Amino acid sequence: MAIFTVDADKCARDGICVAECPGGLIEMKGELPAPVEGAESLCINCGHCVAVCPRGALSLATMPAEECPPVQNELLPGPDQVEHLLLSRRSIRSYKDEVVDWGTLARLVDIARHAPSGHNTQPVHWLVVEDRDEVKRLSGLVIDWMRHVQAQNPGLARSLHLDRVVRSWENGKDRVCRDAPHVILTHAAKSGIGPQAACTIALTYLELAAFSLGLGACWAGYLGAAAASFPPLVATLDLPEGHQVFGAMLVGYPRYPYHRVPVRNKPVITWR
Ligand SMILES: Cc1cc2nc3c(=O)[nH]c(=O)nc-3n(C[C@H](O)[C@H](O)[C@H](O)COP(=O)(O)O)c2cc1C
Repeated sequence: MAIFTVDADKCARDGICVAECPGGLIEMKGELPAPVEGAESLCINCGHCVAVCPRGALSLATMPAEECPPVQNELLPGPDQVEHLLLSRRSIRSYKDEVVDWGTLARLVDIARHAPSGHNTQPVHWLVVEDRDEVKRLSGLVIDWMRHVQAQNPGLARSLHLDRVVRSWENGKDRVCRDAPHVILTHAAKSGIGPQAACTIALTYLELAAFSLGLGACWAGYLGAAAASFPPLVATLDLPEGHQVFGAMLVGYPRYPYHRVPVRNKPVITWR
C-alpha cells in the first residue's frame, strides 16, 4: 500500500508538502507529489505533509486528511494571553477535597499526548491514579524509599531534605503527594529515543493544560524519583517490561488562588 495518496483534483502542485517533509521524503514526480525511494522505512509518521496542505489533498495511509481536525485560528490565544498563562501557572500544593471527574482527567491526557517527541516516537505511556487512597499508599511507599536512602546514603538524604519530609509524614502531613486527589505518572521504554525528554515535555503540557482548565498541578519529584528506582514501588506500579517512570504530576482543584507573579532570576544569556 502506498505510504500516502494525493487527490489530483485537490492538489495545487504548490510543492509545500515537498518543502515541509522533515525527512525530505516527498518529491514532485510529473505534476504530483510522490514518495522518494525508500520513504516507507524513513517516514516518522509526523503527519506534517497532511497538516500543511491547504487543500487537504494529501493523506498518509495511517492518517487520512479527514481524520486530522482543522486548525481553528480563531481559537488560538494571542501572545499576551500565552505569556500570561505561562507566567501565572504555579505549582499547587494545597488541594480541595473535591475530586476531578474522569472526563477532565482524560481530557488532560488527550491534550498532553500532542506534546513533541524525538523522531515522533510518541513513547509516553500514562498511569493515572484516580483513587485518593491509592495516591496515599504511593506516598507511603515513597516514605519507605526515603527511609531507605537515609540509611544507605545519608549525604544524599540530607541534600534532598528527606528528614523533614519523613518527619512531616510521621506527624500526619503528606509532603510527597500533598493530599492531592490524583497523580498522573508518565512511563516509557528505557531503550527508546529520549524517553525522559518526551515524558517531561508531555507532563509540562499537562500542567499547563490543567491550569487553563482551572485545575492545579505540581511535579511530584520525590514520587518520580522513587518510582524509577525503589523496587517495592516499581513492583506495585506493574509497568510493562522494560519501562521506567520518567515523571509524576499531582492534579486536583487548588485550594487557594494565586494573585501575583513571583520574581524569577534574570536570564543568563550569551548573545553571539
Ligand atoms: C522536576 C521537578 C520536580 C519537582 N518536584 C517537586 C516536589 O517533589 N514537591 C514539590 O512540592 N514541588 C516540586 N516541584 C515544584 C518546584 O518546586 C517549583 O516548580 C518551583 O518552586 C517554582 O515554583 P512554580 O512552579 O510555582 O513556578 C518540582 C518541579 C520540577 C520541575
